[in-house]
Amino acid sequence: MRYLPNSCLVFFFLFFSLFHNLSCASTEKELGWCQVQFQCGNITAGFPFSGGIRPQLCGHPLLELHCFKNTTSIIISNNFYNVHNIDQTSNTLRITRAELQDSFCNGTFTTATLPPEIFELLPAYKNLNVFYLCDSKLPYLSSYTCPGRGPVSVSQNLDYQNSCQGSFTMNVPKSYVPEEKELNLTQLENTLKEGFEVKVKIDEKACQECSSSHGICGFENTKQVCCNEA
Ligand SMILES: *[C@@H]1O[C@H](CO)[C@@H](O)[C@H](O)[C@H]1NC(C)=O
Ligand SMILES: *[C@@H]1O[C@H](CO)[C@@H](O)[C@H](O)[C@H]1NC(C)=O
Ligand SMILES: *[C@@H]1O[C@H](CO)[C@@H](O)[C@H](O)[C@H]1NC(C)=O
Ligand SMILES: *[C@@H]1O[C@H](CO)[C@@H](O)[C@H](O)[C@H]1NC(C)=O
Repeated sequence: MRYLPNSCLVFFFLFFSLFHNLSCASTEKELGWCQVQFQCGNITAGFPFSGGIRPQLCGHPLLELHCFKNTTSIIISNNFYNVHNIDQTSNTLRITRAELQDSFCNGTFTTATLPPEIFELLPAYKNLNVFYLCDSKLPYLSSYTCPGRGPVSVSQNLDYQNSCQGSFTMNVPKSYVPEEKELNLTQLENTLKEGFEVKVKIDEKACQECSSSHGICGFENTKQVCCNEA
């Protein structure tokens, strides 16, 4: 067997790549758990999510849910989000950044970017800029003085990028428009508590085809695969 003919190698290569695609590198037992839904409080989720009793191969690596005291959360790019709702028909979820939701002024003031290859902000939402470390001698629209942080200003444009040293963006509904002289912190915090909606970008058609051929939709790392139980 030291000198395998080329055709034999090709055959082996084809065999293994087909085998790999059809049955995934997972055990039958693990796959069975992909048919069970994640359950936490009033949230249920199947593919493309994992977490709880659903093994990691049942979902995209960025879509692993956690459950603590009936509250669902997800960690995306090292940022912690609370999950308020998952609509499995449209593959959308409503999330809040936990730290901003609890207290805006106590937040870390960093932009939490959602990886665009898997998340898409729904059109009802937008990015809003927050400026901080601002020159306290200058006037700012929509500003609020956070204890220990000085003036913070919320703006739809980049007006203050020269007079403030820090800035980050956050997601709010398009209906939220900061225009008053003073920023209404209560209103902003209530808006952040409502969260925003993102759509999960997966190949739904491939998964439907997989299911109708009695396969189980899963992931191998970030690659969507169709697994067969037998
Ligand atoms: C789930 O429960 C939370 C609070 O327990 C509530 O705010 C939310 O509206 C509920 N969601 C659904 C879809 O029933
Ligand atoms: C979670 O919800 C269940 C069912 O509604 C309830 O029985 C249980 O006490 C809740 N647990 C916590 C930690 O809130
Ligand atoms: C914000 O942080 C300060 C100092 O750590 C603390 O005293 C305050 O209670 C916090 N506020 C909220 C709403 O968590
Ligand atoms: C701030 O917003 C809250 C909630 O929307 C509202 O009840 C309150 O009257 C507002 N405060 C001011 C000073 O406008």
